[in-house]
Amino acid sequence: MPSILRAMQADITTLQVDAIVNAANSSLLGGGGVDGAIHRAAGPELLDECRTLGGCKTGEAKLTKGYRLPAKFIVHTVGPVWRDGKHGEPELLASCYRNSLRVAAGHGAHSIAFPCISTGVYGYPFELAARVAVDAVNSSLPQLDSIREVIFCCFSAGDLAVYRRLLDAAPA
Ligand code: AR6
Repeated sequence: MPSILRAMQADITTLQVDAIVNAANSSLLGGGGVDGAIHRAAGPELLDECRTLGGCKTGEAKLTKGYRLPAKFIVHTVGPVWRDGKHGEPELLASCYRNSLRVAAGHGAHSIAFPCISTGVYGYPFELAARVAVDAVNSSLPQLDSIREVIFCCFSAGDLAVYRRLLDAAPA
């Protein structure tokens, strides 16, 4: 069955999917932006589990339970900090999407929602990041049978418009 890729504007903590992805930092001990929102909504047990994980390298992904979230799992990944695009940023960002999908699929997830990783505090230019995200997801899905739906969760209407344009242009 082909998977569905779609974009929507939402607070990712409200989504009823099997897994949401967190744009974390390498400590996995919380922060601002979407990371802070996820920790607040999931509750303090999330931090307790994160403390057991030993951090996470840029481009890698680790899974926890979703606790008080509607989502069953949280996949924590660490995006690259944008410098100039010549320090491996696109490859590392693509790894975040690929590894998050792999980890979620390994736990039987059928649906997963991503925030726009690295495009906030980490400064990755939005449209460049969105292109990497769509390409990485499209190229990973053929190897991941269990994933049926991938949502690109955008925080603003402008961000959503960028994804809608890219998804309309990309082969599903
Ligand atoms: N739902 C969906 N998207 C959101 C939400 C939300 N509730 N809140 C923010 N965004 P950022 P990064 C969007 O800065 O750039 C943290 O402190 C936001 O508009 O959260 O990967 C971590 O601990 C933007 O498009 O993550 C790290 O230290 C996107 O989420 C650092 O920030 C990512 O913005 C990671 O920086």
